[in-house]
Amino acid sequence: MTGQTLVRACTLDDADMEFLARLRGEVFPYRVQSVASQRNVFRTVPERAGFLVLLAERDGVRLGMARAMLDYGTSEPGAAQITVSVLPEQRGRGVGTALLAAAEAHLRAVGGTRARGWCPDTPRSLTWAQRHGYEPGRVMRYSMVDPRTVPPTPPVPAGVRLVAAAEAGPRVVYEIDAATTLDEPGDTVIDMMPYDEWLAMHWHNPDHHPELGTVAYVADVPAAVVLVDADPASGRYHSAYTGVLREFRGRGLAKLAKTDSLHRAAAAGYTAAYTSNDGVNAPMLAVNAWLGYQPTAVERSCRKTL
Ligand SMILES: CC(C)(COP(=O)(O)OP(=O)(O)OC[C@H]1O[C@@H](n2cnc3c(N)ncnc32)[C@H](O)[C@@H]1OP(=O)(O)O)[C@@H](O)C(=O)NCCC(=O)NCCS
Repeated sequence: MTGQTLVRACTLDDADMEFLARLRGEVFPYRVQSVASQRNVFRTVPERAGFLVLLAERDGVRLGMARAMLDYGTSEPGAAQITVSVLPEQRGRGVGTALLAAAEAHLRAVGGTRARGWCPDTPRSLTWAQRHGYEPGRVMRYSMVDPRTVPPTPPVPAGVRLVAAAEAGPRVVYEIDAATTLDEPGDTVIDMMPYDEWLAMHWHNPDHHPELGTVAYVADVPAAVVLVDADPASGRYHSAYTGVLREFRGRGLAKLAKTDSLHRAAAAGYTAAYTSNDGVNAPMLAVNAWLGYQPTAVERSCRKTL
């Protein structure tokens, strides 16, 4: 019917996928995610997540999206994620409210009891979220550096060896990721990430560039990892993850591995490196400040009991 907002499931058709990428580029310009990687998410999110993407459209014009799923990486029951984004020129007309209602109904149906989403830290976005019952919580800091400007690699201690993540291979990288992600500050603990799911979602993500990532070995023990998603066409690099095994922290390994990775990115022609860190992740924020990252945006985690 003319003039009415229709909410429907998103398909894998090119037009829907390209709309998602365009919307994401407008709302979150500091993130890196290609159309191909978007498709990979649809194909690889495990069944237990109850993954659903909804699109809102009026008169055949796409206006916004909502994404809802259970937190499949945690053993905490009922934890769920929700995202609602509307094109800037389409806001203030009830599109977001319609999408949010449909996404929350879906989450309740698949067993979600606590929803969490990331919201730009702007009065407009936060007021909107609060009006719909969401409580602002954690702070996520986004920042950027030109890889060509990062300091020289600090002296590599005796017994430490830096290799590309591609050379170390997925199993080694997975083991460090799975062990260290337990300590990453966040609303939920990531304690359920089987290797086959990680391989499909992260290692084989079309945006993942293992030749730009770094693994640091200490006396032949794989101790630290930097993972990188990137878009060679636009010269954008995104730190997908940095982790150091507990027993090797505080020795400069995160700084060393990330510097090494950024130098490789600079040599490969990348000109903008993005990262995001929880506001209480003091060691990672300290490493990034040393590398010269400058703040670009802040998001807040917003939570609601469904
Ligand atoms: C974050 C993490 C990767 C850091 O690894 P690390 O090897 O200890 O880091 P480094 O030793 O290279 O550097 C830590 C820096 O933080 C500083 N630091 C540590 N604690 C700090 C604090 N509470 N406040 C301020 N600075 C702090 C250190 O002084 C050091 O800086 P310096 O070298 O200039 O002195 C590691 O703690 C980790 O794996 N955490 C769990 C996973 C995680 O949160 N990853 C980041 C996701 S964004």
